[in-house]
Amino acid sequence: MSDNIQTVTVLSKTTWTPNLFSFTVSRPDSFKFTAGQFVRLGVNPSQLKYYQQTEAGDETADTALNEDVFRAYSIVSSPFDEVIEFFSIVIPEGAFTSQLQHLQVGDELLLNTMPFGFLTLARYQKPLPKDLWLLATGTGLAPFLSMLQDLKTWEDYEHIVLAYSARSLDELAYVEKIESLQEDFGTLVDNPAKLIFIPIVTREPVEGTLSERLPKLLLEGTLQESAGIALDIDTTHVMLCGNPDMVEDTKEALKTLGLVMNRRGEGNIAVENYW
Ligand SMILES: Cc1cc2nc3c(=O)[nH]c(=O)nc-3n(C[C@H](O)[C@H](O)[C@H](O)COP(=O)(O)OP(=O)(O)OC[C@H]3O[C@@H](n4cnc5c(N)ncnc54)[C@H](O)[C@@H]3O)c2cc1C
Ligand SMILES: NC(=O)c1ccc[n+]([C@@H]2O[C@H](COP(=O)([O-])OP(=O)(O)OC[C@H]3O[C@@H](n4cnc5c(N)ncnc54)[C@H](OP(=O)(O)O)[C@@H]3O)[C@@H](O)[C@H]2O)c1
Repeated sequence: MSDNIQTVTVLSKTTWTPNLFSFTVSRPDSFKFTAGQFVRLGVNPSQLKYYQQTEAGDETADTALNEDVFRAYSIVSSPFDEVIEFFSIVIPEGAFTSQLQHLQVGDELLLNTMPFGFLTLARYQKPLPKDLWLLATGTGLAPFLSMLQDLKTWEDYEHIVLAYSARSLDELAYVEKIESLQEDFGTLVDNPAKLIFIPIVTREPVEGTLSERLPKLLLEGTLQESAGIALDIDTTHVMLCGNPDMVEDTKEALKTLGLVMNRRGEGNIAVENYW
């Protein structure tokens, strides 16, 4: 096993929908990361209490039970938290999440403590523009929650827009958390209106949310109108995370609006694809 791999213990689990859940694990003392980064998490199905509680020959029997399966996971929690939080999809046929969905408090997971990824605010060269736009679909919300729990993010930008798109209202997770960040960090920086949260629900009508996909909302100007601020090459940083089709289509929409990819610190747009 690599030197970087440590065993962590599941401390809590929150189920949002049958397809979505969050969980926290213990944080190894030496583990450091920057808000927005991801790690590789490992599960060994035979180590889960769920498996140990089931009889041989049931639904888990045909899986490779003694193999560690690793996947990339963005960290939800702040770099200053005592625990590490993750937000996960369940893909019923997925090698990792078909097992991970059975997690129980007390289960052990493997954590590769080498953090990866450049979807961090440190990638942008100074001086920073005034506005930060964070655009997420589904579990792509995770890295943005970490950034929003870092006071520096709030100090560095004049406005922060978080637009978060899910298929249905029940899949719009963490809304209360976002509202409490708005209040708590807004108070700390003396600007309760600094974080502008724009929820988007695409497959059912929900009052108070937008219903179109992000690229369309941008090209029509609806997102900018809802935020009350413009997107501009000189004033805007934009980060995209989640569904690769959303990332691609939104990137193109942003380019049409005059923004450019961030390279070597310069430029507006930074992205992370989840699959
Ligand atoms: C940099 C990075 C960070 C990631 N962070 C997260 C995270 O914080 N939370 C998380 O749930 N996943 C995250 N993922 C995806 C994760 O690594 C796995 O793909 C996911 O856990 C499913 O694993 P699986 O083996 O069950 O299915 P896989 O075989 O890995 O995936 C099967 C299919 O499921 C779909 N899929 C995979 N992941 C997702 C997802 N997150 N949302 C919707 N559909 C998906 C895709 O269609 C994919 O082709 C991240 C991926 C990358 C590259
Ligand atoms: N969510 C479920 O109920 C469900 C059920 C079974 C399986 N799954 C599996 O889970 C995975 C995805 O689930 P998910 O709901 O987390 O992610 P998702 O399909 O990426 O949907 C999340 C949000 O992203 C939007 N989106 C998708 N493509 C986009 C694009 N090109 N541009 C802009 N926005 C886009 C969706 O809008 P649209 O609604 O317009 O697509 C939705 O609002 C899939 O592999 C799916 O097979 C999900």
